[in-house]
Amino acid sequence: MKVLLAAAEVFPLVKTGGLADVLGALPQALAAAGADVRIVLPGLPAILQGVEQLSTVCELGAIFGAGRVTLRLGRMAHNGVSVYVIDAPYLYQRAGNPYHNAEGQEWPDNIQRFALLGWVAAHLAAGELDPEWKPLVLHAHDWHSALACAYVASHPGPVAATVFTVHNLAYQGLFRTEDFHLLGLPSRLMVSQGLEFHGHISFMKAGLKFAQRVTTVSPSYAREIATEEFGCGLDGVIRARGGAVCGILNGVDSEVWNPAHDPHIPTPYSANSLGGKALCKAALQRELGLHVDATAPLLGVVSRLTSQKGLDLVLAALSDLMQGPGNQTVQLAVQGNGDPSLEAAFLAAVSSYPGRVAVCLRYDEALAHRVIAAADVMLVPSRFEPCGLTQLYALRYGTVPLVRRVGGLADTVVDATPQTIQAGTATGFMMGTATPSSLVQALERTLQAYRNPAVWKKLMLQGMAQNFSWHVAATHYLALYEETLKGGPGKSPLAG
Ligand code: ADP
Ligand code: GLC
Repeated sequence: MKVLLAAAEVFPLVKTGGLADVLGALPQALAAAGADVRIVLPGLPAILQGVEQLSTVCELGAIFGAGRVTLRLGRMAHNGVSVYVIDAPYLYQRAGNPYHNAEGQEWPDNIQRFALLGWVAAHLAAGELDPEWKPLVLHAHDWHSALACAYVASHPGPVAATVFTVHNLAYQGLFRTEDFHLLGLPSRLMVSQGLEFHGHISFMKAGLKFAQRVTTVSPSYAREIATEEFGCGLDGVIRARGGAVCGILNGVDSEVWNPAHDPHIPTPYSANSLGGKALCKAALQRELGLHVDATAPLLGVVSRLTSQKGLDLVLAALSDLMQGPGNQTVQLAVQGNGDPSLEAAFLAAVSSYPGRVAVCLRYDEALAHRVIAAADVMLVPSRFEPCGLTQLYALRYGTVPLVRRVGGLADTVVDATPQTIQAGTATGFMMGTATPSSLVQALERTLQAYRNPAVWKKLMLQGMAQNFSWHVAATHYLALYEETLKGGPGKSPLAG
């Protein structure tokens, strides 16, 4: 099974969120399950620097506004996975975020930057760029590479089967219809049955409409995006795909996230020897200027600061949370960056609760490990969550997640009730609605359990025993690829 994965991020080279973690682990898991896997990535500076043993596959000349585009092939240093890198200096050699500039404005030529990614993926899939390797399946991830599915569908010859994974429907890649001519796609695709979306070109729609199979990163999210509440205006498109849409849950890379062998945390620990966790907590309290207090329940957040993540609910409930239901002295450590108003509000909280609230407004992989290891409770009160990885990492680190019952959070955490605690299946706490009062109620239940050391330890150990493995996810993807191949090309009527 030859598979080409197309994406814009990959851990550890370029990461803005969980998408990178998925691309850092899934290819190796697919390879371990017997697939011949390669990735295609844009030649962002960190990718060109980090991918090893790059050699030239072919020169693509001047396309998509770039004067010179070269396709190179190398390997990921950490897992040896083969990677095609699109070296297009004019489009990709820019410092900072892959999607926007330092002021947070999208790069003005994003339409060309990500059309090129899709175009190269599609032509690799058609066997036109690398005579040595032609995939059977092209698996595109999120809007950044979704246009590949439209290029494949409009290709006259036999191309690979296509699978498209939605990691987050809220980011759609919308562009001006006036720029459609830049894409080199047939104009018959620029209709509402094709790529048109409320007067824009939608890259996301290219994946949703033209891929033979569409997946999301959890079963619940697959159901949710078929509803108006979670469909971001595309629920009709999703419903129309019927049984072609399914959810495959993400896994945890246990090489990277394992408290027994984590170089980023001060003291390793495991389910058999939990002592190190208390030392991690004390060390983080010192590092962040919190009172060093083993008995104060420490709530942790590691997150992009966007409305998706519901962290405004934490701010709205802060005085209730800090008051500590049951008069417990609660502490809060927030690591995140993004929305400037949320950043400012969290900073203000530090002055209101010195020694009890700490905030780090920066992206720092090592600190994320220390926060997850040190916290007693991980807060993930998301409004929507396609999968969510931080609650999975928390479970592994014996940090009890408090999550909203939505998307992948609902699929991965078992709410602690008297029955589930008794049965030994409980792993965390759930809030129903996205409201401050629902959060406070869930925290009250959490702290009640925290005050009972036997119950708390049971929750921690049950969480640590969970096995969200990439092996399971890879097995599901391989089965899906096989099915997709059997289903034939299944071209859209618009594809010609
Ligand atoms: P999303 O992809 O929606 O941001 P996930 O929970 O799937 O959410 O993945 C988030 C990933 O990004 C996790 O690996 C998390 O540890 C990491 N992360 C988020 N914010 C930061 C930050 N400020 N510093 C370091 N890592 C972060
Ligand atoms: C997206 C989602 C997140 C998911 C991640 C990886 O960024 O917001 O829920 O875990 O992709 O699939």
